[in-house]
Amino acid sequence: MKQVYEGKAKILYETEDPGFLIMHFKDDATAFNGKKFAIIKDKGRLNKEITTITFGWLEKAGIDTHFVRDISQNEILVRKVKIIPLEVVVRNVVAGSLSKRMGLKKGEKLKFPIVEFYYKSDELDDPMLNEYHIRVFDIADEETIEKMKEIAFCVNDLLKKKFEQAGILLVDFKIEFGKDENGKLILADEVTPDGTRLWDMKTGEVLDKDRFRFDLGDLIEGYEKILERIRCVS
Ligand code: TMP
Ligand code: ASP
Repeated sequence: MKQVYEGKAKILYETEDPGFLIMHFKDDATAFNGKKFAIIKDKGRLNKEITTITFGWLEKAGIDTHFVRDISQNEILVRKVKIIPLEVVVRNVVAGSLSKRMGLKKGEKLKFPIVEFYYKSDELDDPMLNEYHIRVFDIADEETIEKMKEIAFCVNDLLKKKFEQAGILLVDFKIEFGKDENGKLILADEVTPDGTRLWDMKTGEVLDKDRFRFDLGDLIEGYEKILERIRCVS
C-alpha cells in the first residue's frame, strides 16, 4: 500500500478505491508540536478503538464523518477528503492554553462553550486565528466557517452527553474538517484522548494526553479507563 501522508500520530495509505484511505494509528506520542516525543506501546490500538466509538456516536446522530469502518488492530477505513488546515477547538471548562492566556484557574466551568481556530503549521507553532484571518488568507470562506462552528457545537453537545454517561467530563477537544469531491464539509481526523481533555467526574483524575504532556501518570492506564467506560455507552 502506498503511503500518502504521515503525521505525528497517524499514517494514511491508499486503497484500491481512490475515494477511500486507510488510517493507521501509530504508537508515537508527541506534545508541544513534536518537542516532546515517545513511543508508547498500545497507544495506537487504544486510539483506534476510541475513535471507532466516538465517530460511531457522531455518525449515529447524523453528523457526516469520514469514518467508514474498523478494519484491523490499528486501522480504520476512511473517506478521502481534502483537509482544511485548521484545528477547531471547543472548550467547556478552563484548561490548557486558555488557562494560560486568561490567567484563569484550571477547572472553572465556562458559562457557554468557546470555539477557537488554530492554523495547522508546525513551523509556526499552530497560531490562533480569528475568522478574518481565515477569510483573508483563503483558508475557508464565511459559509464554511459558519458550518464548522455549527457542527463543532453540535459535536460538543453530543460528546458531552456521551462522556457524561461514562462518568467523564468533556473539558475541551480539537476536531478537524475536510471537504469531499463535491465540496461537502465532513468531520475528519479523529476524536481520541490525544486531542480531547477528559477528566473523571468524581475524582477529577486526568485521563487524556495531558498525562504525557505534563507527566501526570501512565498514558495507557488513562486511555484504557476511557475505553472501558465508553464501551458501554451506545
Ligand atoms: P490547548 O488548551 O492546549 O489549546 O488545547 C485545547 C484542546 O485541543 C485540547 O483538548 C488538546 C487539543 N490539542 C490538539 O489536539 N492538538 C494541538 O496541537 C493542541 C495545541 C491542542
Ligand atoms: N498535537 C501536538 C503535538 O503532537 C500538540 C499537543 O497535542 O500537545 O505535538
